[in-house]
Amino acid sequence: MALELARRGCRVVATARRQERLAELATTADEYEPMLHEAGDICDPGFRRHLVEVAVTRLGGLDLVVAAAGGGGIGRFRDVDPRLLDRILDLNLVAPAELVREALPHLANGRDPAVVLIGSILGLHPLPLHAAYAAAKSGLHSLAACLRVELAAEGIDVTMASLGPVESEFWESLLEGTRPGWSRGRGMPPERAAEAILWGVARRRAEIVPGWQAKGYAFLARYAPGMIDRWAARGLRRDSMATAATEPAAPHRPSGDEP
Ligand SMILES: NC(=O)c1ccc[n+]([C@@H]2O[C@H](COP(=O)([O-])OP(=O)(O)OC[C@H]3O[C@@H](n4cnc5c(N)ncnc54)[C@H](OP(=O)(O)O)[C@@H]3O)[C@@H](O)[C@H]2O)c1
Repeated sequence: MALELARRGCRVVATARRQERLAELATTADEYEPMLHEAGDICDPGFRRHLVEVAVTRLGGLDLVVAAAGGGGIGRFRDVDPRLLDRILDLNLVAPAELVREALPHLANGRDPAVVLIGSILGLHPLPLHAAYAAAKSGLHSLAACLRVELAAEGIDVTMASLGPVESEFWESLLEGTRPGWSRGRGMPPERAAEAILWGVARRRAEIVPGWQAKGYAFLARYAPGMIDRWAARGLRRDSMATAATEPAAPHRPSGDEP
């Protein structure tokens, strides 16, 4: 998204925690438009405030906020670390909401101002093993719907992007667990997702669902959610059976020990 914006001549402040990756990104963006970058944790309220200040003081204002940082965690709800729910909600729901709140007074003075929230098709209908993540992204959908109406009077647009699989470091950066076997497959290139989102922002679309995989899922989520549940339950069963088959067999007990 940051590169795509720079390519269109926008002046961007990019953020993430890893300074060296941001520096690489800014070097790539130099070809189009110099990019500022600030490293920090988006879950830290002080950092969010600082980020908005940097944009306002160094760029002279704010026209667009893209709340994209996010991450998942995989596992059965009863088995995962109980702290996972808080961490996922904080990163995927509270941080974007509070970043937008921080930016609103400045967006109100922006040119054609807009907010983009990066959600997931799992916010439209959840999949098992993603309880916390799906709950957070579903909350983001509600937030977007509410803000869209509230901010219309101030001329601030809100676009919700519901992404399906996108090639990224998402699965390497999980807060817990590993990618389930039944969710394998190639996603769409990130630059195509970014292009689709910016196409939607330019047209003031309330929601963007980039790519046929995501559109197919969104269709089922709306009209046949039971099909998704049955497909996911089958995948879950297959994965459990595969795990059971690779686990070492229980030591043989002489029949005399049996109760
Ligand atoms: N990839 C998919 O298939 C997919 C599908 C649906 C929705 N999404 C959503 O798309 C968005 C982007 O994810 P992605 O797929 O591009 O995954 P990604 O490659 O893991 O990117 C996540 C980005 O967020 C940053 N980030 C993570 N935690 C952060 C924190 N606490 N503070 C600041 N920055 C943080 C990461 O940089 P640092 O690690 O350096 O902080 C990284 O730049 C997320 O909201 C995700 O939920 C992705």
